[in-house]
Amino acid sequence: MKVTKTIASVRKHIAAARSDGKIIGLVPTMGALHIGHISLIENAREKTDFVVVSIFVNPAQFGPADDFKRYPRPIKKDLKICREHGVNIVFCPTTKQMYPSENLTWANVEKLTEHLCGRSRTGHFKAVITVCAKLFNIVQPDMVFFGRKDAQQAIVVKQMVADLNFPLKIVVCPTIREPDGLAVSSRNKYLNPKQRKQAACLYESLQKSKQMVEQGVTDTKKIIRQMKNIILQTPHAKIEYIEIVDVKTLQPLKRIDRKALVAIAVKIGPARLIDNILLDAGRK
Ligand code: PAF
Repeated sequence: MKVTKTIASVRKHIAAARSDGKIIGLVPTMGALHIGHISLIENAREKTDFVVVSIFVNPAQFGPADDFKRYPRPIKKDLKICREHGVNIVFCPTTKQMYPSENLTWANVEKLTEHLCGRSRTGHFKAVITVCAKLFNIVQPDMVFFGRKDAQQAIVVKQMVADLNFPLKIVVCPTIREPDGLAVSSRNKYLNPKQRKQAACLYESLQKSKQMVEQGVTDTKKIIRQMKNIILQTPHAKIEYIEIVDVKTLQPLKRIDRKALVAIAVKIGPARLIDNILLDAGRK
């Protein structure tokens, strides 16, 4: 496994792999790798011949009150995980490599970023898609692997790829969950044991929405009210949003009469946690 910090060197290795006829897969990450990332790597290994993992904690996508400074950076452990899972190259650039001078060019996806996380995290998606566009230009992958836990991110990046004609395929892989349903996330590390137990309320409330739709309820206000009740029983949980939106446009729905994304963001202690499920009123 090669570990490289520079754009020139990652390009050189990838050019060699491509000239050997290899299909290139990219798993973009911010490190602190967990079983969710491992499942992305495994998907990439299954579908491509040459797997690149990027590890870059992108400062631009963190707001002033966000956790950029304390975001975990266990690089040795991350490299060990990559080595054990057959990754071909780890690209871990410095901030100077990625942003050598003041960045004046930003990609932006309209409309899809107005709701859910986009409402409170101003500038977040602009920075995510810009860094993704940079990584796609550097690595020039055939396929890029994202997790469904960050559903809005995957949808927004897919739109950018289509709008800007990147010749690559975005593959969205299932959310990996702990036994109590909590979606695996690098930010779960911020939870103490009590908060960790409480964090199961996100999945519980999502399951409630699924049950209600299965029982024939389609009124999203009613569903959101029941989901809120579950979260509000959890001491110190602060709801940022619970939204039910059209899975394509991400616009809020009054009724679940098509494929819908039920998405939730809740702060538990020091951790801002997000999760979602897909529901289809037509399918039980
Ligand atoms: O999901 C993440 O880890 C990040 O948002 C990404 C896609 C690596 C961009 O920095």
